[in-house]
Amino acid sequence: MMGFSTQRREDVKGAKGFDFLRVLCASALNRKAEFNLAGWAPPTNIRHENAGGQCPPYSSLRPSCLCVGLCQPGRDAIMNRGLFITLEGGEGAGKSTQLAYVRQRIENAGIALHVTREPGGTPLAEQVRALLLDHRDEAMASDAELLLMFAARAQHLSELIKPALARGEWVLCDRFTDATYAYQGGGRGIDAARIAVLEDWVQGTLRPDLTLLLDLPIEVGMARAGQRGELDRFEREQQDFFERVRAAYLARAGQEPGRFRIIDAAQDVVAVQRQIDAVLTPLLAQAAGASA
Ligand SMILES: Nc1ncnc2c1ncn2[C@@H]1O[C@H](COP(=O)(O)OP(=O)(O)OP(=O)(O)O)[C@@H](O)[C@H]1O
Ligand SMILES: [Mg+2]
Repeated sequence: MMGFSTQRREDVKGAKGFDFLRVLCASALNRKAEFNLAGWAPPTNIRHENAGGQCPPYSSLRPSCLCVGLCQPGRDAIMNRGLFITLEGGEGAGKSTQLAYVRQRIENAGIALHVTREPGGTPLAEQVRALLLDHRDEAMASDAELLLMFAARAQHLSELIKPALARGEWVLCDRFTDATYAYQGGGRGIDAARIAVLEDWVQGTLRPDLTLLLDLPIEVGMARAGQRGELDRFEREQQDFFERVRAAYLARAGQEPGRFRIIDAAQDVVAVQRQIDAVLTPLLAQAAGASA
């Protein structure tokens, strides 16, 4: 069983190009906290908006508050949960291909891992996936599509993702909420603020710790995906839809550089693996250190 414990304050303050903890501190009332560890983030990101050491009310914390364990209530309440890693990207980007590689690397490191996908991941959520991907005569309203995505996600989180993370196991997921921002937001044109409401509702503060965004030109991905035979409901969209999806993904990566790693997925499989290695190797070394 593998999980991360918090860094000591002195360790984090002296960090050079390595791990840091982003801790969303607890309210003094419920002493609830979550942390988000991103082993690749530069130390310049480390800061604390309440250097006095008093933990501010949970409600007043901004997401950008990268508390590094200085807050006693937050530090006391940090959960020792597993890492949540997602793979994102457009059609045929190589997510499934690279998922197998990421899985192998994590499992070879002796880390308990759940590999899953969205939409889907549980029997009920997979049924919702079929509703979302299958063709039918009746067009699906964009809001219905969005709500079904989050309905599947709620089930997936409740049944699989949250329990696994709470046990200290890692979760590797083929697509997650960034795909909703990309496809239903960028592609369908639903306002990101509306998606954010559902994200907060369904996920609370849970977000992936690391997101590998496999980025490549639309034509390259479609040519790869097209070789697989029958296209699903999304794969039948037009080029401009996928251009908007790609732009939305890249915009999200730009907004959250600490969480995202953009991988040039147009390269051959081995070259893509080498880029993924550059992210995973330090992370797994850190995990080995944390468990020693
Ligand atoms: N780097 C690569 N270079 C060339 N072909 C690749 C590469 N990565 C994957 N492929 C091939 O492209 C096709 C699509 O790959 P894959 O199924 O992994 O993509 P995906 O991102 O999971 O697609 P989807 O979004 O449809 O699930 C497969 O036939 C796969 O073998
Ligand atoms: Mg796939």
